[in-house]
Amino acid sequence: MSKNQIRSIKGTQDILPAESLKWRVLEKKIHDTMELFNYGEIRTPAFEKTELFDRGVGLQTDIVTKEMYSWIDQGGESLTLKPELTAPVSRAYVQHSLGVQKPLTKLYYIDALFRRERPQKGRFRQFHQFGVEAFGSEHPEIDSEIISIAVTLFKELGLKDISLKLNSIGSENCRDKYKDELKKFLKPYLKDLSASSQKRFETNPLRILDTKSLSDIEIIKNAPTISNFWSNEDKVHFDELCELLDTLKIKYEVDSNLVRGLDYYSRTTFELISPSLGAQNAICGGGRYDKLVEMIGGKPTPGIGFAAGIERIMMTLKNYTDKNSIDIYVVGIGPKVRQTVFALADELRQSNLSTECDMLRRSIKSQLRDANKIGAKYAIIIGDKEFENKLVEVKNLNNGEQEKVAIKSIISHMTSLSF
Ligand code: HAM
Repeated sequence: MSKNQIRSIKGTQDILPAESLKWRVLEKKIHDTMELFNYGEIRTPAFEKTELFDRGVGLQTDIVTKEMYSWIDQGGESLTLKPELTAPVSRAYVQHSLGVQKPLTKLYYIDALFRRERPQKGRFRQFHQFGVEAFGSEHPEIDSEIISIAVTLFKELGLKDISLKLNSIGSENCRDKYKDELKKFLKPYLKDLSASSQKRFETNPLRILDTKSLSDIEIIKNAPTISNFWSNEDKVHFDELCELLDTLKIKYEVDSNLVRGLDYYSRTTFELISPSLGAQNAICGGGRYDKLVEMIGGKPTPGIGFAAGIERIMMTLKNYTDKNSIDIYVVGIGPKVRQTVFALADELRQSNLSTECDMLRRSIKSQLRDANKIGAKYAIIIGDKEFENKLVEVKNLNNGEQEKVAIKSIISHMTSLSF
């Protein structure tokens, strides 16, 4: 590697053509699935005011304390590359009064996000999410719809071995009482907890529940469970959601330690886990955020959604066989036919046939080799002699069959073939 060579930034990736084709297949599946569920696509700016994430995601969260790409712009304002999309989509929901037009506003997105995390398998500094957000209903019907979107999509994609973890972290009052009890329980073990859990004891004790440290896990085994602190309404909400999931035949495992890492959640939380992903095994995570819209200056509006990591989905999809193929390769031999090759390629494309032709002035042999390499189905060969007789050669590159066709009828001939 030359000393002068500039390389991409750690934790970012180039998606090259062979790989981007897989992305397109996945993106199409997402758009088709979202159409089935009647969700509208939303696209928000790449950066927002830092305050949106401070207030929305929470000052004590990992994202806000250490992972945001923030800077002061020339106008003196603190701006941030979006590290997640629930807060920006909620901001757009409020700003454009979307709830006035639709009491239940259902949105989805596919977008790039930025977090300064430690890069490793399945964890990047620029990554992509497909996410869904629904505003306006506090009822468990929408919770079950949101969960079933994730399950339907992953089933469609043929992902196996995925398990759904489900919890409710209750509403605000219950959480405050629970936090006090949890701290009371943990206090005698404080010095035995991992350094990050010790820090969270004061700032965000609930997050200790999803620690990865084995010794912490041993300690919290006997901690009080949040379901014992649910209000009656919280319990009814969770039970009704479970019944709806049973009706939809969606299997789940209740995990009372699933609290998630963003501060806006209340009641339902869930994650889809794929064991084949290794340490970063959460393919998708989400939950209810009934206070978020209010926290960023809107009218109280319940919301629920999830986001799935596209890179992680890609890692689980090994069996894509789509080949990047084109319909026709126009092979030209010699300077006399060069213009005709170009004009014909242009006309074929206008007739909706994907077409390639040589621009490196190569020999017929290497043009045909190139045609095979890129998976062209037919080659149209224009040689000097045929050209004088106003003929071209059409070669089926799958079975090798060849025929002469009058140049004036080549377009109608090619469009009549099956591709
Ligand atoms: P999250 O759990 O932070 O939630 O991210 C959701 C998913 O994005 C993860 O399950 C994972 O698949 C993927 N992901 C997160 N960080 C990375 C990374 N550094 N590299 C690769 N993939 C990553 C949220 O972002 C919430 N906004 C989800 C939500 C939507 N909750 C309600 N609505």
